[in-house]
Amino acid sequence: MGAIILADALASKAKLLSEVPLFSALARTELMRVASVAERMKAGPGEVLAEEGKPGRTFFVIEKGHASVVAGRRRVARLGPGDFFGEMALLDQGPRSASVVADEPMTVYTVEARDFGRLLEDVPFLTKKILRGVSNRLRAAEEAPSYVWNRL
Ligand code: CMP
Repeated sequence: MGAIILADALASKAKLLSEVPLFSALARTELMRVASVAERMKAGPGEVLAEEGKPGRTFFVIEKGHASVVAGRRRVARLGPGDFFGEMALLDQGPRSASVVADEPMTVYTVEARDFGRLLEDVPFLTKKILRGVSNRLRAAEEAPSYVWNRL
């Protein structure tokens, strides 16, 4: 009985995840894999989800709401539904490159560091989408004025 309830909860989380663009092209088994490690959480306006210079242990994907990416005192990007953040500190184990602050009430999915690496190995298509997103950001930063680039 407990196992059935658990499987139902996982399946409904997988369904919610399938509506987030980062995950929308994943196969059902891959969605279930993401659902097994992703937690859905709310954040209030002003909440600091990542803090520049601090170690980071969590990867985030935005379901609802917007957040500002702040490096130094400058806002370098604004992220919204479907965007992800927090991958850099997990990938290179360095400090957070920027702070990410909720601009309004948000719903996000979180994946903890211990699960993130394994998830990228198990779901190569997700890895490809994250790499594409990181490349886009690098391109945008290269096109940005040098004062922004200097702060990345
Ligand atoms: P991380 O360094 O772990 O924590 C802060 C996050 O902000 C970072 O990962 C990226 O996900 C995100 N980030 C940093 N710089 C930018 C940028 N220029 N544009 C969009 N997102 C960024």
